[in-house]
Order: sequence, then structure tokens, then C-alpha cells
Amino acid sequence: MKTIFSGVQPTGVVTLGNYIGAFRQFTELQHEYECLFCIVDQHAITVQQDPAELAKTIRSLAAIYIASGIDPEKAVLFIQSEVPAHAQAGWMMQCISYIGELERMTQFKDKSEGQEGVSSALLTYPPLMAADILLYNTDIVPVGDDQKQHLELTRDLAERFNSRYGKVLTIPEVRIPQNGARIKSLQDPLKKMSKSDPNKKGTISLLDTAKEIEKKIKSAVTDSEGVVKYDVENKPGVSNLLTIESALSGVSIDDLVVKYEGLGYGAFKTGVAEAVVAHLTPIQEKYNELLESPVLDEILDKGANKANAIASVTVAKMEAAMGLGRRR
Ligand code: TYM
Repeated sequence: MKTIFSGVQPTGVVTLGNYIGAFRQFTELQHEYECLFCIVDQHAITVQQDPAELAKTIRSLAAIYIASGIDPEKAVLFIQSEVPAHAQAGWMMQCISYIGELERMTQFKDKSEGQEGVSSALLTYPPLMAADILLYNTDIVPVGDDQKQHLELTRDLAERFNSRYGKVLTIPEVRIPQNGARIKSLQDPLKKMSKSDPNKKGTISLLDTAKEIEKKIKSAVTDSEGVVKYDVENKPGVSNLLTIESALSGVSIDDLVVKYEGLGYGAFKTGVAEAVVAHLTPIQEKYNELLESPVLDEILDKGANKANAIASVTVAKMEAAMGLGRRR
């Protein structure tokens, strides 16, 4: 069976973009593949975090994974910092990365631009991400469109490692969803929906109330044409809302265009909001049941054990290949 690995950062809220681009793929894939899903808390501290808040967000993200449909009997869910091999392999991947290629990462450029005191870890974030993936002999990495460049670098680093030290690492493929790979901000449909967007009206959180969701969708930026049509170039706002409804309801975009034919944007937005609320309500109910439950700790303990068992074998192979430690 092929192996799937993916990770989500425990920072801020989980957005509808994260859900459509990533979580929705995870829950589909767990039936066909050996899956490992990670809460990448070491990636989160590449920018300063409030420790108490981070601890809460880690637990909340674990509950969201399970509430959105990850079956802990099928998939392994764990916290990155509970598996020391990530930091160990991350260091080895840093040692074979070039500063130039890391500086070219668009996420590094976006996150460091105009900031004072950028951490060195923000630059070396991608080799740690490569380590996450490569430790599990991963075949496929399901992510949203914004992670594509990091995946290309992961492949390059794995190939570089293998050509220098012998064939130890599996070269992974990226898997981007056909529909919803880049959900846009509701306020600026040319930008991706992001948890770090200071304009909260542009981002739907998975934990927003029905009222908040309706309000945000009602005030979503569209255009003045009044026709519901999929045309990303000329109608990015309307197209984004169509993508959201289609991804959550399973109804094709073409069928949605027929559904809204002759209706104005008011009725369209009401329909989109209803689809979002209908999809998120059961997830939120499950989330609230799980958050304080010891079941969540059992899942994470079991996950850390399983992940450690696999990752410690790979890290030992990597260290031996590089000549670290003692020859036995
Ligand atoms: P993160 O935490 O920013 O996002 C988690 C996942 O959500 C996807 N995503 C989106 N998809 C569609 N539309 C959007 N607007 C949108 N915003 C986010 C992301 O593509 C991602 O799949 N570097 C990663 C975390 C990571 C990782 C890994 C991922 C660390 N190690 C190993 C895969 C494998 C990140 O910051 O994701």
C-alpha cells in the first residue's frame, strides 16, 4: 500500500481554505492509502508564538483533524515535536540545502518581507518540511497549491541526498485537488484565503458560527454584473464562491450555475452560506465533544508511538548513510 503524509501548522484558526485544500483530501485518501497526518508545531515556532496559545491551538487542531473525518483506526495522527526524528532529519536536510534555493521560496519571501528580526528557521523551514515527508517513505503528499514549491524542493533534496549518500529516501509526488486547490479571500478574491489575513471578514474559520458565516459570505466581494458564472479571470469573487459551494456540496460547478440562473447575487450568497453551514455544523458538533476528551490524548499517544517507530528507522539509515556516529 502506498503511503500518504501531510501536515498542518497549529497557528491561528483553521480556515475553509485549509479544509477544502487539505482536510477534505485527507479524509478521502485514508481509505486507500497508509496515511500519516501531522500537527507541525515545530514549523509554527519559526515565527514567535505565545506558548499558552500554541498549546491550545495544537489540541484544537487535533480535534479538528478527527472531527473533519480522520479515522484514528485507519490513519496515524501525531504531533511533530513528539517525534524527535523530525528535528534530527531536519538538520541533515538543512546540511544539504543551499541558501540560494531557500531564499527563492515564495513563502519565505512573503513571510519575511518588511519584517524585522526574521528567524533563521523561517529560511530553513522547507528542509524541515522535507524531513517530515521523507521520514515516512512517503509516496504522495496531498496539499493545497501554495505548498507546491516546497514539494518540488523536497524532491530535489531527496534526490540530492540519494545521489550523494546512496538510495535511502523515497521521492514523493505532490497531490493538489482539482477543485479548491487555492480558495481565495472573500474580501480580495485575488489573494488566497489565509489564517494570517488581518482582515477577518475575508476568512471563514472552521469554527465560525452560522451567523458569522452568513455575514461574511453576504459581504463577500463579487462584481456588478449580477450573473452567476464561473470565470476566474473576469469574475474571481463569484468563481471563488462557486468553488466553495461545489467543493462542500459535491454538486458540480456547471450544475450550480444552472441552479442560480436568473437569480441575483443575494440568492446565490444565501445558497453558498447554507452549503457551508450544513457542511460545517456536524464537524463543529464532533469538535466540541472531542476537545476536552481523554480520547484525543489516547489518539495522539498512539499516533506518536507509531510515527516514532517508522521515523526512527529512517533517521538511523540517514545518519549511517551520512557517516554520523560510530560504525558498528
Ligand atoms: P498550512 O498550515 O499553511 O496549511 C495546511 C494545508 O492547507 C492548505 N491551504 C489551502 N488550500 C486551499 N486554499 C487555501 N486558501 C489554502 N490555505 C492553506 C495548504 O496548502 C496545506 O496543504 N508548510 C505547510 C505545513 C507542513 C507540511 C509538511 C505539509 C509542514 N510539513 C509536510 C505537507 C507535508 C503549511 O504551512 O501548511
